[in-house]
Amino acid sequence: MKTVNIALPKGRLGEKVYKILENAGFACPDMKENDRRLIFESAHGEVRYFWVKPSDVAIYVERGAADIGIAGKDILLEYSPDVYELLDLGIGVCRMAVAAKTDFRDNIEKTLRVATKFPNIASAYYEKKGRDIDIIKLNGSIELAPILDLSDVIVDIVETGTTLKENDLAPFETVVPISARLISNKASFKFKNNEITKVIKALEEK
Ligand code: PRP
Repeated sequence: MKTVNIALPKGRLGEKVYKILENAGFACPDMKENDRRLIFESAHGEVRYFWVKPSDVAIYVERGAADIGIAGKDILLEYSPDVYELLDLGIGVCRMAVAAKTDFRDNIEKTLRVATKFPNIASAYYEKKGRDIDIIKLNGSIELAPILDLSDVIVDIVETGTTLKENDLAPFETVVPISARLISNKASFKFKNNEITKVIKALEEK
C-alpha cells in the first residue's frame, strides 16, 4: 500500500473535507488535539495530510509534494496548474463577480480600472467582452478600492454578499461560478491510482 499525500486548505473548507474523509475511514486522531502541527498521518499510513495556505494547494499538487489536494476553482482558473481536476466537491460554493459602488455606470469611452486578486481571470473576462481595462492587482480587502476611487470596479469572490453590502457596494455581473475541486498530481494519479481512487470514492459518497 502506498501513502496518499493530501494537501488540505487551512480553514473551514479544509476542515469540512477532513470530516468527510475521517468518516470514510481516513482519520488522524491527533489532528483534533494539535492545531499547530502541519503534517498528520493516519494510523496505518493510508493517508498523510498537510495543512496548506488555500492558494498554495495547487502548487504542492502540481510539483508532487502532495499527490492530491482540495483547491477552489478560482485558484485553478487563475494559475492554470498542470494537474488533473478529478471532482467537483459541491462545497465552498460561491461566484467570481464584478462589483462596484451602487451608483456605478460604466463609461465605455474610458479605460475601466479593475482591482482584483485574480488578474488573469479578470483580464480574460474583459478581453472576451472587448473592454479596455487597467488591472490593479491587490492581495486582499479588495472592497476598499472602489470606495477610495483606486478603481471603478472589483473582480472578487462573492459568497453571501455581506462584505459588499457592508461596504455599500453591489454585484453587477457574474464572471464564473466557483466551488471546491479535488485535484491530482498527474504522475501520482498513474502510480497511486488504486489508493487515490479510494479517496475519490469516499468523497463522492459523502
Ligand atoms: C473573500 C472575498 C470577499 C469575501 C466575500 O474574502 O474577497 O471579501 O470573502 O464573502 P461574502 O460575500 O460572504 O461577504 P476572504 O475572506 O477570502 O479574504 P480576503 O480576500 O480579504 O483575503
